[in-house]
Amino acid sequence: MIKLENIKKSYNMPNKEERIIFSELNFDMEDAKMVSIQGRSGCGKTTLLNIISGLDTRYTGRYYYEGHMMKKSEMTQNRFQNIGIITQSYNLLEDRNVNHNVAIAIQDLHIPNSEIKRRVKNALAMVGLSQFGKKYPDELSGGEAQRVAIARAIIKEPKLLLADEPTGSLDEKTEIEILQLFEELKAKDYRLIIVTHNNAVADICEMQYRVENQILVKIR
Ligand SMILES: Nc1ncnc2c1ncn2[C@@H]1O[C@H](COP(=O)(O)OP(=O)(O)OP(=O)(O)O)[C@@H](O)[C@H]1O
Ligand SMILES: [Mg+2]
Repeated sequence: MIKLENIKKSYNMPNKEERIIFSELNFDMEDAKMVSIQGRSGCGKTTLLNIISGLDTRYTGRYYYEGHMMKKSEMTQNRFQNIGIITQSYNLLEDRNVNHNVAIAIQDLHIPNSEIKRRVKNALAMVGLSQFGKKYPDELSGGEAQRVAIARAIIKEPKLLLADEPTGSLDEKTEIEILQLFEELKAKDYRLIIVTHNNAVADICEMQYRVENQILVKIR
């Protein structure tokens, strides 16, 4: 579905030095439904997700979406249509309730209010938070906030979900619940790319990669 060829990416440091993150990165998720990406802190996992989502287009190399070689100018549209992002921090708006936090992902798509309401309801039901719509972020546990972030990502009904360290700050039981949710999403034909430090998360993925020495190494 997503294929990257020969990606080179570096950041310019404040002292104008170039910091190479990827020297010659290749990635092919083929028909895999769930792909994990591991690697040490600071190796470039979030950077890679930003490239895949099209938030970051400052790199060289080729990006294919379903066999089509993407122009950089097509990446924003591609993200709006096809990609849901679950960020490393939940990024919920503290002064808005859960319903609003979930709806926000589709508010610019000119969808009628009644349809937005229906979709919010469905998305919250899918993550097991039907009763939580009127709650505010500071009334949620970490696991609940994570599930709101997942609801916000799936409300667009994207083909591909990118999750950045989705169980990073959760206890073991909550982590298992999130993993079950991912399995359910997989059964509903979502594809997932999951960045994780957690082997239990990687183990449920049929394809596993690791960022190492500025490239991606396929583990499985
Ligand atoms: N916008 C930026 N400008 C300059 N350097 C950056 C920028 N974003 C990230 N970096 C650097 O690039 C490297 C990779 O960052 P990235 O956030 O992709 O790591 P990561 O693998 O996601 O780490 P973690 O596991 O801690 O989340 C880090 O050394 C970071 O300091
Ligand atoms: Mg990161």
